[in-house]
Amino acid sequence: MTTEVAFDLGAWSAAHLDGVEHALERWVTADAPAGVDHGAPAELVEAMRYAVLDGGKRLRPLLVLAAWEAVNAETPMGELQDAALRAAPDEAALRAAPNEAALRAACAVELIHAYSLVHDDMPCMDNDVLRRGKPTVHVKFGEASALLAGDALQALAFELLTPDDEKMPTQRQARLCRLLARAAGSAGMAGGQAIDLASVGSTLTESQLRDMHRLKTGALLQASVMMGAACGDASTAAQAALNVYGAAIGLAFQVVDDILDVTADSATLGKTAGKDADQDKPTYVSLLGLERSAAHAQELLGQALAALAQSGLRNTQALQGLANMVVNRSC
Ligand code: IPE
Ligand code: IPE
Ligand code: MG
Ligand code: MG
Ligand code: MG
Repeated sequence: MTTEVAFDLGAWSAAHLDGVEHALERWVTADAPAGVDHGAPAELVEAMRYAVLDGGKRLRPLLVLAAWEAVNAETPMGELQDAALRAAPDEAALRAAPNEAALRAACAVELIHAYSLVHDDMPCMDNDVLRRGKPTVHVKFGEASALLAGDALQALAFELLTPDDEKMPTQRQARLCRLLARAAGSAGMAGGQAIDLASVGSTLTESQLRDMHRLKTGALLQASVMMGAACGDASTAAQAALNVYGAAIGLAFQVVDDILDVTADSATLGKTAGKDADQDKPTYVSLLGLERSAAHAQELLGQALAALAQSGLRNTQALQGLANMVVNRSC
């Protein structure tokens, strides 16, 4: 089932990703982001750039920007704070251009995601050789460099969220850091990855599997949504609805990842297909089978769209489109 959405997600995404790609290109360099020469070793920076640039669906940055737009559309014109935005030619442009905080948040969450992929692929974890259609970072640069590139990307994410200027109030910086740290740490991605590794060869109950997927993958996707909301002034009701939306698509994303591992090929995925069964990982497919897993993903899509409908937010087409993409994607 595809839920019809009268919205051109492709065009919306292309327009928004342009800014994200440029920002990542600029910020993931030896002298980023302040323009000061940190003396970073060139090979480490090369491994970081290899991990982040030229690839990936960029779903997390898109979620940040879509949530920010949804929240920002509710802000009265007179209250839009950003001076750069005020200089935009008209109201539509003013509302569409991501502010400094949203762009930084979008890039920060992608850096954490990229680091998680580098480490996920290492021999001590999933031992994978293909990622985003290229050899994995440890295959190309060696294990120690992959470990350090991941570490450095994680640190850079928080550096991006804490610029030393007045464009981002320190309270907003702190909130964004807290949301991202929580989602990346032991109660989020890293914790979920630990459960994943400890579960190899065992059968989990549906509730255990759900908890693992929520942590290892869902938390960062949910945080992307909440970080976007935190870049504007969302009402408490809107924040609660976005939290439900983020939880639903976050879980759905990993359910679909489990499905695609079985149904898609490596060329389409840009990563090795069939490895969950090879490595005896408990997944939604191993527990429920393909059909029930797909039905569950659709159910989660329904929950996400219902939460948006009840959010009181009017500009949610991009969030709706991204939820559909998460569940109905082919790679
Ligand atoms: C892959 O994430 C890892 C999971 C959390 C399942 P994505 O499918 O979003 O990977 P990219 O960013 O598009 O490469
Ligand atoms: C990874 O889950 C989740 C992360 C936190 C990176 P998977 O191990 O299933 O991701 P893929 O299939 O390798 O992308
Ligand atoms: Mg894994
Ligand atoms: Mg993996
Ligand atoms: Mg997978």
